[in-house]
Amino acid sequence: MPRRHDGPQRHRDTEKIYLKPLCLCVSVARESAIAFGIAAMMYGGVRAQSPNLGTPIAEAEVAGWDISILPDGTGLPPGSGTPAEGATIFAAKCALCHGPEARGGTNAALVGGAPLTNGIDTAKTIANFWPYATTLFDFTRRAMPWQAPRTLTSDEVYALTAYLLSINKIIGAQDVMNAQTLPKVRMPNRDGFRPRFPEMIP
Ligand code: HEC
Repeated sequence: MPRRHDGPQRHRDTEKIYLKPLCLCVSVARESAIAFGIAAMMYGGVRAQSPNLGTPIAEAEVAGWDISILPDGTGLPPGSGTPAEGATIFAAKCALCHGPEARGGTNAALVGGAPLTNGIDTAKTIANFWPYATTLFDFTRRAMPWQAPRTLTSDEVYALTAYLLSINKIIGAQDVMNAQTLPKVRMPNRDGFRPRFPEMIP
């Protein structure tokens, strides 16, 4: 009699012991299958089954949009320009909005600017705020003139950059701006920014 009672009990225990590891194996196997599937999708293993959205892009096409210039001048194109050349281009293409000699018109003045005594209330200008001269090239090339962005040649952008730096008395009136000289221009507010996470800066 005791054996009959023990029998089913022992069987259930055995079931538990053997089924648990089995479930574990099954679920591990399923997760790895999913992980493998995701990895395969990410690394192109199932590209052949893609829904064919879009077409591959050529390096040359990417280059047309890859126009960012870093503070150290990385990305600056060949070419050059002087403040005098920039003055002529500015009068023709920029003064209608930024005013004669960049003193302000329907849009912001690009010359002058009060010292940043009150960081929030003082108007920010190229001379009192921008930390890197290379940003002037980057911004002008990608965004100006407002109604026709990306229409300026590299020489024109160098000349306009030279002109704006010169009228702000950051460079001399004869200084030539190019990929070598522009990154060396030190902006007045270069050290005015306090990084929130200084330990993240190499
Ligand atoms: C049709 C009007 C218009 C013309 C023309 C124009 N701009 Fe601008 N410019 C603007 C506007 C609007 C802004 C502000 C844009 C913004 O805040 O995003 C601006 C901003 C700028 C700034 C940034 C100023 C700052 O302190 O933030 C610079 C530099 C600049 N323009 C340079 C130029 C140059 C150089 C030209 C000539 C090639 C030019 N602009 C032509 C309308 C114009």
